[in-house]
Amino acid sequence: MLKSKTYFVRQKPDRSLECNKFGYKCFRLHTGSGLQRIWFRRRTLALVLLVCLVLCMSIRLSTNNQPASMLYQRWFENLRHLSANKSPTETRQIERDIENDKRFPKILRTARQRVFDVNCAAVLRGDLKEIKRGRTIMDKDGFVRGGNISDISYIKLTKDCDKFKENRDYRNYILSATEKEFPVAYSILLYKEVEQAERLMRALYTPRNLFCLHVDMDAPPEVHQAAQGIADCFPNVFVVSRKEYMVYAGFTRLQADINCMQDLMQRNKDWKYFINLPSQQFPIKTNREIVQILRTYNGANDIEGLTGNSRLDHRFKFRYVYKRVAKDQIKPKIYKTNNQRADPPANVTMVKGSAYGVFSRAFVEWMLQSKTARELLDWMRDVYSPDEFYWATLQYNQNLGTPGSHYSGKPDNKPWLAVHAAWGGVDPCKGKYVRDVCVFGLGDLSALVQKRHLFVNKFYLDYQPRALECLEEWLHNRTAEPAHQPVNLTYYRQLHFINTDRVS
Ligand SMILES: *[C@@H]1O[C@H](CO)[C@@H](O)[C@H](O)[C@H]1NC(C)=O
Ligand SMILES: *[C@@H]1O[C@H](CO)[C@@H](O)[C@H](O)[C@H]1NC(C)=O
Ligand SMILES: *[C@@H]1O[C@H](CO)[C@@H](O)[C@H](O)[C@H]1NC(C)=O
Ligand SMILES: *[C@@H]1O[C@H](CO)[C@@H](O)[C@H](O)[C@H]1NC(C)=O
Repeated sequence: MLKSKTYFVRQKPDRSLECNKFGYKCFRLHTGSGLQRIWFRRRTLALVLLVCLVLCMSIRLSTNNQPASMLYQRWFENLRHLSANKSPTETRQIERDIENDKRFPKILRTARQRVFDVNCAAVLRGDLKEIKRGRTIMDKDGFVRGGNISDISYIKLTKDCDKFKENRDYRNYILSATEKEFPVAYSILLYKEVEQAERLMRALYTPRNLFCLHVDMDAPPEVHQAAQGIADCFPNVFVVSRKEYMVYAGFTRLQADINCMQDLMQRNKDWKYFINLPSQQFPIKTNREIVQILRTYNGANDIEGLTGNSRLDHRFKFRYVYKRVAKDQIKPKIYKTNNQRADPPANVTMVKGSAYGVFSRAFVEWMLQSKTARELLDWMRDVYSPDEFYWATLQYNQNLGTPGSHYSGKPDNKPWLAVHAAWGGVDPCKGKYVRDVCVFGLGDLSALVQKRHLFVNKFYLDYQPRALECLEEWLHNRTAEPAHQPVNLTYYRQLHFINTDRVS
């Protein structure tokens, strides 16, 4: 039999029997067969409890009420997300990385100046003097744009992913719970100038969004390698599994997006919307705002629709063929023949639109599986610019049972908010027109940021690069301030094409 032992908090065993008299309290604790007696001083106990209470309260207050702490809360949410579904070994590595400040910055994203020779804030306010000054700076000899990273440099830079992410500012973005629950999948089309595609991706980058990079099969080897290098640095960025050989206005342009859609579908079940982009577009909404707007769409697609004369019937009534006319012509071109084509399958009515749009996941899933959609795709092979017919035709032939198609009015009357482009003879352009589309300059920015659209088209890195850089600075500032002016959703809520059914 074990003998019961008596323990004393104070080394005064002789007072054990008079504990209450001297202000000590006696406790009897049962541990196994032994009886333990622990002494506490009442005042010490009260003090410890009080200190504990004050500490706990202050921690609670600071995490619940202060915006700065909310940032950290989101930061930790993000952290938890990273370790979800990971093996214990991987989780330990993540924890080590976080401790060593490898995975997350100690410094949170802050609004800051990125362009120093031009006052972007003034340019965005439409300050004509500053715009003029900026243009003079860009015209000067020896002007160097921000970034200016060659395709070859990307191959080198992405060899050290940690450094690449640090230097290119990918790290310090804090994801809100809403964004975390609503990932968006993108395809980005590129055939040269990796930098522009990368800057576009960076503007939309969150650890939850998915990016499929489609590099033209015909692009120089360094472009393929650079894109692969970037993809290898992020678990949520990849190069398309089947690259297409691009021909201007050809079928492969459409096939490229479908290849990305297929890959994205297999990648995960999380993403809610798909948006296809060429490298020359840029967002005018933050990821958070894009998510808020897409949530308002509630499963509806945003696809342009044009009928009547805008439909350009000759593009699908006649057969178009690929030809190399000149011997030194590298890529074939598309030429019209006089062969009339049969009507499209399934008695669909042709509708023209844009190659670009906002597509719900249900739409993508349906398009990839539907027999009619496949037949129509096949029929599109010798159409001129089939990407400008396929999405629109699927969307506005509601009898096909197209998911995300909730609008039955005249397609032309429906606002289309995926991307704003300024067309020659219609929209103002302070930059220059190339093939009838405005390449934006500094003077366009103040009007652009007022638009309801998600993206604007287009920018060239070698034409007024400060325009794109100022837009980057503006957008970056807006992602840095969690309390920034939220997007006014009233406009989006009253749109006729959105899905107004409540999600149960
Ligand atoms: C971005 O924020 C910085 C720091 O507050 C400010 O100096 C700059 O003017 C802002 N840029 C724009 C375009 O608003
Ligand atoms: C890009 O950098 C190179 C040197 O690395 C320079 O010669 C060139 O002028 C720069 N181009 C632009 C547009 O800034
Ligand atoms: C084809 O569509 C037209 C109207 O778009 C309709 O009048 C006609 O009945 C349809 N034909 C068939 C076979 O479904
Ligand atoms: C939001 O937009 C609606 C119309 O689109 C307008 O009536 C309303 O005043 C705006 N609200 C704010 C706070 O700007």
